[in-house]
Amino acid sequence: MSYLNATHDLYKEAAITPDVGLCCTTNPIWELPGLKIPKIMQEMNYGCGSTVHARDLTNTPKILYVGVGGGMELLQFSYFSRQKGGVIGVDVVDEMLEASRKNFQIAEEENDWFKSEFVELRKGDALNLPVEDNSIDVAAQNCLFNIFKEDDLKRAIEEMYRVLKPHGRLVMSDPVCEQGMNDTLKNDDRLRALCLSGSLPIKDYVKALTDVGFGTIEIRARKPYRILDPKHYPTEELVYIESIEVAAIKDPMPDDGPCVFTGKAAIYYGGEDYFDDQKGHVLLKNQPLAVCDKTAGALGALGKEDIFISESTFHYDGGGCC
Ligand SMILES: C[S@@+](CC[C@H](N)C(=O)[O-])C[C@H]1O[C@@H](n2cnc3c(N)ncnc32)[C@H](O)[C@@H]1O
Repeated sequence: MSYLNATHDLYKEAAITPDVGLCCTTNPIWELPGLKIPKIMQEMNYGCGSTVHARDLTNTPKILYVGVGGGMELLQFSYFSRQKGGVIGVDVVDEMLEASRKNFQIAEEENDWFKSEFVELRKGDALNLPVEDNSIDVAAQNCLFNIFKEDDLKRAIEEMYRVLKPHGRLVMSDPVCEQGMNDTLKNDDRLRALCLSGSLPIKDYVKALTDVGFGTIEIRARKPYRILDPKHYPTEELVYIESIEVAAIKDPMPDDGPCVFTGKAAIYYGGEDYFDDQKGHVLLKNQPLAVCDKTAGALGALGKEDIFISESTFHYDGGGCC
């Protein structure tokens, strides 16, 4: 049986019998005026962060969500879009589609603003999306792509890129691991399907996105996720897994490479009112400017003593250079 079949079977089970501990998230459940998340959706929260960010959701965007789970994030997206078919949900597991369909009916009873028709569910595979080219403003996936092996991951990202409109954004949450996993872990189909052994280091995860053509990457959050210990897993050392929230924007690729925002800022504190690098970056005195890693590197290479460049905070929330 391939790891994709193992994944299918695991989520078929998780659709029929909700498994509260399946994925662990430290994310609080969204609290928004008038939004009530049904208990069953909370029990079927199989994600590892949030892909719903209000600032992505202006101007009633067309939203695609791949790997629907219990439907919680699709309900949250609907809160912002509130239109028939405004959110397309795609999943390869019939039982998961059926479970989420029932959960949307419960959500409709508990939320007077919500109608099940706001979500259009489609059976389909992340590796071959049943969605038209250039038709989506915001695409999202939570805790699915980390399961995919290298070639399938490339294919899944290419599919998201294909369906996004120019400047559309792919918003994701996935486990990542800086240590690198041993082959026994990596090749354990069940652990992979459980989102425990497919994680990449952040730089490889980002490279997978920029290799497909996304010109801007934002790392919005980085949080502790899980420990794999030698007593319970096939590993000789403790493996520390984190989760990240990332947006990949379908901007054209700049000639000098992608803009990757990891939460760095530059602060000019010299004798003038501002510093202008003549490349489009003006640093007002004593005001931090969010910079992508490329600009941080270029400013650092100037060797100026009156510019401070911060470390990556992995908490980028907009604005700044580029
Ligand atoms: C870890 S769960 C995450 C569910 C949801 N995103 C959440 O945050 O609760 C993975 C989801 O992806 C679905 N899935 C698994 N393989 C898939 C594939 N190849 N294409 C589309 N969906 C898939 C599963 O049925 C399940 O709903």
